[in-house]
Amino acid sequence: MDRLKGKVALITGGGSGMGRATCVLFAREGARVTVVDRVAGAGQETVRQIRDDGGEASFVEADVSDAADVEHMVAATVEGYGRIDVLFNNAGIEGPSVKLLEYGEDDWGRVIAVNLTAVYRAMRAAIPPMIEQGGGVILSTASVAGLVGLARSSAYSAAKAGVIGLTRTVALEYGPQNIRANCICPGFISTPMLDRVRGDRPESALHRHAPLRRVGQAEDVAYAALYLASDEASYVTGVPFMVDGGYVAG
Ligand SMILES: NC(=O)c1ccc[n+]([C@@H]2O[C@H](COP(=O)([O-])OP(=O)(O)OC[C@H]3O[C@@H](n4cnc5c(N)ncnc54)[C@H](O)[C@@H]3O)[C@@H](O)[C@H]2O)c1
Repeated sequence: MDRLKGKVALITGGGSGMGRATCVLFAREGARVTVVDRVAGAGQETVRQIRDDGGEASFVEADVSDAADVEHMVAATVEGYGRIDVLFNNAGIEGPSVKLLEYGEDDWGRVIAVNLTAVYRAMRAAIPPMIEQGGGVILSTASVAGLVGLARSSAYSAAKAGVIGLTRTVALEYGPQNIRANCICPGFISTPMLDRVRGDRPESALHRHAPLRRVGQAEDVAYAALYLASDEASYVTGVPFMVDGGYVAG
């Protein structure tokens, strides 16, 4: 308990999957949480769960691919809670499952906008208040697909590799201002996104991809995010942190 006591966290994609699990865990650990999602009902349900649990949270509706929405979600957090200690860029979309020659430019642009450009914009919005308050933590959800290729996911894989490069660079540039930047690289994690991606295949068909012979749970990622967001990770920056059951070890 209280591993994030006194801290303010903004989490995008907080209405589902890993984002919701992280919002709930961060609030349980004492953070005040801004839950951001483009689906209002889903984000509000996360806030309801946190409040029922005795935690503090508020919802901001935003599409992270919209520059004004990104500015607004950070400004609303700083106005509402007085600071922003943790920015967690977690919202993402999978895009179509097709090979490169079938991957149209509209789909390419949308996946890059949500999964990569949004992270760039949110970092630019959050870093100035973090500098002003003496530091902060930036987390982003990349993927094992940013470390190794993932067939039929060219834009997704390119965007996630981009998040890893962006994270490392921001860690170099703003470490001297006490800002840490890390990203999490999940393998297959049981969420609504995985349900969409696996289609008719049972979840067990994905077990062979991990030496631990299971898919991960949203909480597996939330606990990694908790560690990286907390002061326990105060000397950890520029890291792609794998939560993949050993997928990339092979
Ligand atoms: N599930 C997996 O196996 C897996 C593996 C590796 C990485 N990831 C990444 O983890 C992150 C979370 O994925 P998840 O599996 O929990 O997915 P999910 O689909 O369950 O949840 C994603 C949430 O993001 C929100 N969202 C999507 N686009 C948005 C936008 N433009 N603006 C604001 N909110 C938006 C959705 O409404 C949803 O609530 C994503 O970045 C995803 O790419 C997932």
